[in-house]
Amino acid sequence: GGDGHVEDVDFSFEGPFGTYDQSQLQRGLQVYTEVCSACHGLRYVPFRTLGAEDGPGLSEAEVRAYAAQNFFVYDAELDEEREARPTDKFPPNNGVGAPDLSLMAKARAGFHGPYGTGISQLINGMGGPEYIYSLLTGYTGEQKEQAGTVLYENHAFPGGWISMAPPLYGEDVEYAEGQPSPSLEQEAMDVSAFLMWTAEPKMMARKQTGFTAVVFLILLSVLLYLTNKAIWKPIK
Ligand code: HEM
Repeated sequence: GGDGHVEDVDFSFEGPFGTYDQSQLQRGLQVYTEVCSACHGLRYVPFRTLGAEDGPGLSEAEVRAYAAQNFFVYDAELDEEREARPTDKFPPNNGVGAPDLSLMAKARAGFHGPYGTGISQLINGMGGPEYIYSLLTGYTGEQKEQAGTVLYENHAFPGGWISMAPPLYGEDVEYAEGQPSPSLEQEAMDVSAFLMWTAEPKMMARKQTGFTAVVFLILLSVLLYLTNKAIWKPIK
């Protein structure tokens, strides 16, 4: 049954100095495009951000080709669908009622407790991408029908039964030369990393700013301490 079991994955972007792995983001984008996008939208993600240096890092021409070749969007001015452009966002997908994945890695927590203290989260992080990884690799193969819906048993999904059929089995996509082979675990890790990036595209800039701020505050504390000493010296 579903015990909300979430595995810890060593992602490159963990810790105060962690960074996204550009090749991994590109592989994850490929998995999203070829598998997940059939049911899930990414409505808050503009295509142009795929060119971000601290993101998938596609060239301008690649972004243009990617958008045009893979997606149609509704254009309110033309009142019809047209090929997507870099300035558009990924289209929503409400076909089968699958939730939008733009912010999913931040909307789910993988680690809790113990006993609501959040200590596990302090040590292991929130676990959003780990949750997605565990969901994708957590199918037991059991299924049942309930009120006309087929449910699939999954270790990570709360309650243990999810209406999403296993989307990945391994060898679902063909990665470019020189990339790891697309096992179920590899694909799940790559698409989870990609969804972490869609949920927090500025993570690397945030960590950089945080580090600079901490260094600055330490220096400031030292200077203030010495200043205080100097000012009170004649009196003490
Ligand atoms: C739910 C990821 C492919 C249909 C979800 C959830 C995630 C997810 C994270 C949310 C689970 C939760 O609420 O905690 C993915 C990824 C995919 C993928 C990463 C590609 C590798 C698909 C495909 C379909 C689909 C191809 C349709 C054939 C659904 C549906 C739900 C869902 C219907 C709602 C399930 C429920 O609440 O019972 N998916 N998905 N997904 N997905 Fe997918």
